[in-house]
Order: sequence, then C-alpha cells, then structure tokens
Amino acid sequence: MTFDTTQHNRRMTHFDDHDSFWLFGYGSLIWKADFPFLERRPAWIRGWSRRFWQGSHDHRGTPDAPGRVVTLTREPGAHCHGMAYRIRPDILAQLDMREKNGYLRALVPVHFDAEQAAEGLIYLATEENAAFLGEAPLTVMAAQIDQAWGPSGSNRDYLLNLARALDELGVDDHHVSMLAASLPGTGTKL
Ligand code: SIN
Repeated sequence: MTFDTTQHNRRMTHFDDHDSFWLFGYGSLIWKADFPFLERRPAWIRGWSRRFWQGSHDHRGTPDAPGRVVTLTREPGAHCHGMAYRIRPDILAQLDMREKNGYLRALVPVHFDAEQAAEGLIYLATEENAAFLGEAPLTVMAAQIDQAWGPSGSNRDYLLNLARALDELGVDDHHVSMLAASLPGTGTKL
C-alpha cells in the first residue's frame, strides 16, 4: 500500500447510487467538519478502539518528522464514540483527499441509540498502510505529538481538540485523555 490511498478509495463505489449515507468520524472528523453535510448525530461503532497509531506526514507532521493521528484497532466488546454525518456521495472526493495518507474507506454498522443503526462508512488506517506507526509507550507518543507540526497545524492541537470534542460529547476515552494529560505543559503529568 502506498502513502496515497485516493485511487484505491475511488474504486469503492458502494454508496454511489445513494442520495445520502452516514459517514462516521472518530478523529478530526469529529471536530473539523469542513465539508458539506445534511445532518449530524453523535454515534458509536462496536468492536473498535481509537488509537494514536497512525503517522501523519501530510497534515500534522512532515515526511521527515511525522505526527501521530488516530486510527482504529479491533477490540471485541469495545465501543468507539464519535460523530456521524449524513452526506451526499459526491462529498467523498474531497474526503478521500483529506484522508489520503493511508486511510481506506470501510463499511461498518453505525449506532445512534439502542435501537437505531445504519450501514455507514469510516476511514480506516490498517497496520498494512505505509504510514502506520503502531503502538509506543505513552510518554514517547506524547513527546512526538508535542513536537510535530504540519500544513494543518500542530499535532498538539489535533490531540487537544479531539480530547475537548470527546469531553463535550460526554465520552470518556482513556487512551485520548491519558495522552492529552501526558503532553508536556498540560499540567497533569502522569
Ligand atoms: C476520522 O476522523 O474519522 C479519521 C481520522 C482523522 O481524520 O483524524
């Protein structure tokens, strides 16, 4: 898998003939909705956990000094909370560009409450992608995030914006809050 997943994602035509469908965001897509959408609702997906294991060479880092952004890892019984957006299929072209550094479109059931669910789309960066960094000690990940910058801004802001957005949603994500608290200068050293 190359660093640029755009062409691969364009071949995924699953929702092309739908008027609209649900996109589930679990990272910057929660707090940076810079794309047109018809509706948005807090939602969750099952069996996945959010992790800062994906490298960012294009948004929150550079090819020489990549940052760390979130992807999902399978974890039976886990719930990953985020934000679902009802979008039109033609919006995917710009989302493919935004998520091109290793993320592939994947289909998942998106849950809105105990009764309501719909088939939705996520951008998932698996460990096969060239930008995948994987797990590292918390302090090592926090130090990398503290230092990294890219065209979209600082990696610190990505993490702190995500932590704040999850807080506003009433979501307790241990991995994200531990990492945010481990950032140099945040006061709550662990
Ligand atoms: C997402 O937000 O759903 C994908 C990862 C990101 O863009 O931060």
